[in-house]
Amino acid sequence: MSDAVLSQFKQEVVEEKKGFDKKIKVGIIGTGWIAESHIQSYLNQPDVEIVAACDLIPGKAQKKMEQFGVKNVRCYLSHKEMIDNEPDLDVVSVCTYNTQHAVTTIYALEHGLPVLLEKPFTVTTEEAVEIMRAEKKSGKIVSVGFQPRFDGNMQMIKKIVESGVLGDIYYIQTGGGRRRGIPGSTFIEKSTGGIGALGDIGCYSLDMVLNAIGYPKPLTVSGYISDFFGKNPKYNGEDAKRFSVDDFAAAFVRLEGGIILDFRIAWAMHVDTPGDTMIFGKEGALRIPSTDCWNGSVGGEMTLYHDICGKQAETKIPLVRSSGDLFDKKIRSFLDAAMNGGKAPVPTSQILYNQAIIDGINKSAAAGKEIEIEIPEI
Ligand SMILES: NC(=O)c1ccc[n+]([C@@H]2O[C@H](COP(=O)([O-])OP(=O)(O)OC[C@H]3O[C@@H](n4cnc5c(N)ncnc54)[C@H](O)[C@@H]3O)[C@@H](O)[C@H]2O)c1
Repeated sequence: MSDAVLSQFKQEVVEEKKGFDKKIKVGIIGTGWIAESHIQSYLNQPDVEIVAACDLIPGKAQKKMEQFGVKNVRCYLSHKEMIDNEPDLDVVSVCTYNTQHAVTTIYALEHGLPVLLEKPFTVTTEEAVEIMRAEKKSGKIVSVGFQPRFDGNMQMIKKIVESGVLGDIYYIQTGGGRRRGIPGSTFIEKSTGGIGALGDIGCYSLDMVLNAIGYPKPLTVSGYISDFFGKNPKYNGEDAKRFSVDDFAAAFVRLEGGIILDFRIAWAMHVDTPGDTMIFGKEGALRIPSTDCWNGSVGGEMTLYHDICGKQAETKIPLVRSSGDLFDKKIRSFLDAAMNGGKAPVPTSQILYNQAIIDGINKSAAAGKEIEIEIPEI
């Protein structure tokens, strides 16, 4: 399934490359599966050299670099060891599992390094706030790795909302999921993944709609999580024994501006989809088909429902095919911003609200009631 997930981000024509005269020195923190996409996209840039990499597992970083034919890379056993020994690094990619996102990113920022951080932002809101405080202090950027942001279809959703054709937005249904698609590896344990489907793919659904409507602040949440599939050997085999995160989450969230967000996400369930994404406005509504392998992509042509001269009308929005690879775009936009002192392409100031909803769902589920979402000052 992993190839199927990533192949959705490979798109046809490669765009003309921009670049700096000086080679940008990159370090990779964590050399597991997603690091492969980072490495390949850095290799696709004309002005980048991967000079260092690290992984907690001995030999893993070296092996990964050999696999990609990257020469003269110094490999280390932790982010600390790498950063302490590499004073010339320009930027780092954080490709660790979720529970190491905060500690590694903060250490990099404290050493003056801009960070491209994989999604989800963190596990808790508190960690996200700590990262943002370190970011503010260092003056270096953190960009969160939501490559669907660079997809033309995702951008179309935002354009439609911003055009005003939907009028004021008052209700959003979003989410998605897989009938059976529980990952294995480090995703399913609390000590590494920290959160399950809620963080892994829920963050994409939230970003799809919150980015479109300008990331309003979340105010309250009534959340629910469960693990009926992950913990059951009938559905999850041997992995059921070590499964300690959620495989399903649902929530009712109130956002600033009187907008209601109705959310559900699943790594596994007994239906094919928990529903399409729908954005209801006072003047129109947009239906965005879900996919059976939910990872933040648009599943088919979208439909805009509106009235024309008193008649109900439906306009189909065909899927667009963006040029270039979304991972290349995520990496290029980060490098350009980091090296030019620009703003992060996917800034923490937005994704903080994404994380606060995820964390709020967990906290509300534990409390068994609706809670207020509290976000500390940065
Ligand atoms: N953007 C995407 O499309 C996408 C897709 C898959 C995964 N991800 C995200 O990427 C992250 C990693 O996922 P993965 O599948 O590659 O996980 P993985 O478990 O395969 O790889 C993570 C690696 O990080 C290493 N690591 C952990 N802490 C470290 C530290 N302090 N220093 C050095 N190495 C450390 C681990 O040993 C492991 O090898 C997750 O947060 C996941 O949500 C993003």
